[in-house]
Amino acid sequence: MQVVFLGLPGAGKGTQAVSIAEEFRIPHIATGDMFREAQAAKTPLGKEVQEYLDRGLLVPDELTIRLVRHRLGQPDARHGFLLDGFPRTLPQAKALDDMLAEENLALTHVLYLEVSQAELLQRLTGRRVCSACGANYHVTLHQPRIEGTCDRCGSALIQRPDDRPEPVTVRLQENLERTGMLAEFYEARGLLGKIDGEGPIGHVYDEIRRALRGDHS
Ligand code: AP5
Repeated sequence: MQVVFLGLPGAGKGTQAVSIAEEFRIPHIATGDMFREAQAAKTPLGKEVQEYLDRGLLVPDELTIRLVRHRLGQPDARHGFLLDGFPRTLPQAKALDDMLAEENLALTHVLYLEVSQAELLQRLTGRRVCSACGANYHVTLHQPRIEGTCDRCGSALIQRPDDRPEPVTVRLQENLERTGMLAEFYEARGLLGKIDGEGPIGHVYDEIRRALRGDHS
């Protein structure tokens, strides 16, 4: 199972990917998480991508493709994976095809989580993330049991720097047209499954699970 989650920032890719990857026993590979981990560890990659992330701009293709190529070469990705946040551009999509072809593999599912822009803005500006384990919350839509504290590990919740209003606007602009082009690219190849990402988290999850199991009832 080689899966891609496509969707604008805030569509719910990360929220759904964590549980889906666990249920289907495939690694969850999120380029945004990988960049943030590199930033936190202050590696050369982290320093290189800092400004792009903080401003909401896409990291250059060459750098992103190199990172994913390396990650997909790890043993745990040989028998399937769930990509969240990659590809985001047509050159990345073509590079992914090439990487998989080298291993005689191909994508099995591309699921596009569709959410209106008004809802995305609300989700992103209200999102809070755990400073330790990365779990996602929202100030009104998905509250933790204790305000400001992660349900899973008890650490403090923070706002991602790129969830401030200005970078959120840039992120939506950066991704709007490109995501549409990617959806067309995969639709033309009969790979695209559209998921209504606006319902409650559990409903979206059930729809994704049905799509992955090929259950169209
Ligand atoms: P990344 O971390 O991938 O950010 P993103 O795509 O902007 O995605 P998000 O994490 O913001 O949204 P999501 O769809 O995962 O939604 P989530 O589940 O969190 O990338 C960050 C940066 O890294 C980029 O800006 C770029 O600089 C760089 N980068 C990464 N990949 C790159 C690439 N391939 N090429 C170049 N640069 C790259 O949900 C959002 C909120 O909504 C949460 O609060 C959640 O609780 C809530 N929520 C989720 N689902 C629902 C629901 N159904 N109902 C109500 N609330 C919900």
